[in-house]
Amino acid sequence: MPDQTTTSASRAEKTERVVFGQGFLKDCWWFAALSGDLKPGKLQRFVFLGEPVLLGRDLDGKVYGIRDICPHRAAPLSAGQMVRDGSACVVQCPYHGWTFNTEGTCTSVPSLTPDQEMDVNRIKVRNYTVREQQGIVWIYITADARRPTEPDHEPPVLPGVVGGNPIIVETMDFDSHIDHAVVGLMDPAHGPYVHQQWWWRSAKSQLSKIKQFEPREHGFAMVRHAPSKNSRAYKILGGAPATEITFRLPGVRYEHIEVGPKQVLGLTCLTPIDDKTTRITQIFWSDHGLFRFISPLFRLGAKAFLKQDGDMVNLQNEGLKYDPSLLWIDDADTQAKWYQQLKKGMDVRTQ
Ligand code: FES
Ligand SMILES: [Fe+2]
Repeated sequence: MPDQTTTSASRAEKTERVVFGQGFLKDCWWFAALSGDLKPGKLQRFVFLGEPVLLGRDLDGKVYGIRDICPHRAAPLSAGQMVRDGSACVVQCPYHGWTFNTEGTCTSVPSLTPDQEMDVNRIKVRNYTVREQQGIVWIYITADARRPTEPDHEPPVLPGVVGGNPIIVETMDFDSHIDHAVVGLMDPAHGPYVHQQWWWRSAKSQLSKIKQFEPREHGFAMVRHAPSKNSRAYKILGGAPATEITFRLPGVRYEHIEVGPKQVLGLTCLTPIDDKTTRITQIFWSDHGLFRFISPLFRLGAKAFLKQDGDMVNLQNEGLKYDPSLLWIDDADTQAKWYQQLKKGMDVRTQ
């Protein structure tokens, strides 16, 4: 007979996973950091999806991620140091000096006496798959901590002018579960009410516009259109800009603007930190001289947008405290519904 407690516990877990506003999508890529944030040998503690992660770059420049809890007595490995051990680079715990390679395997326990037989290589700390490409570090967190699998898909490859130094980077932590943050990011109907500023676009022009969507890998795109009539900020770039907005679920949105042969790429990434916190990172790259010139304006704009969204999230939290059921309507909430479907699909896949 199955153990009653276990059965109900796993049932509870199953239900929790598909509830909007709870749990995290696993077995997918999340934005972790910019390449420039990780210096060789420097140990940094991050929290992703409620898990402490030591994310770093070894002394030879390779990026790695391991759980930031020493399996001995739980000291954060990120408080230790990276040392060379022959040709390998290992992380040394600050408490008793155990060392771990960047795959998470223990390589030495200094307190062992010569007569103590212990296979230290059997001690492991969780290892995360990370990829560094186009100046971005992505992390893949599996649903089953004990069985890290090879990802069955790769992180997004962004179009255009990425890879060099970004012109603008803005980061903010929202007091919001990732599900609400993603839906907020995709939601087209809040713009005229939350983001009103003279230099962006007039409120009237944003309402009830029919947008054309088409499917993309792990997401969808709002197909290339000319935003220039309504967007005063883009107008400054000159020419006839064409823009395409792509959502790659679960937490990536990018806007690729082409002005003749020049481009601007604006990337927005959401990463769940824990149940109640989501980090939003906005990055802009461009090879357009004028964009560089007016980037202080864009930076202010990006900051203002994030603050407006953050203030709205705090207001929304006043309502969410009471755990109300939410009403999704067609058209304006279509993308939100797609996200929910994806979440359900992924949850089923990872059971
Ligand atoms: S806690 Fe890390 S070596 Fe003891
Ligand atoms: Fe917004």
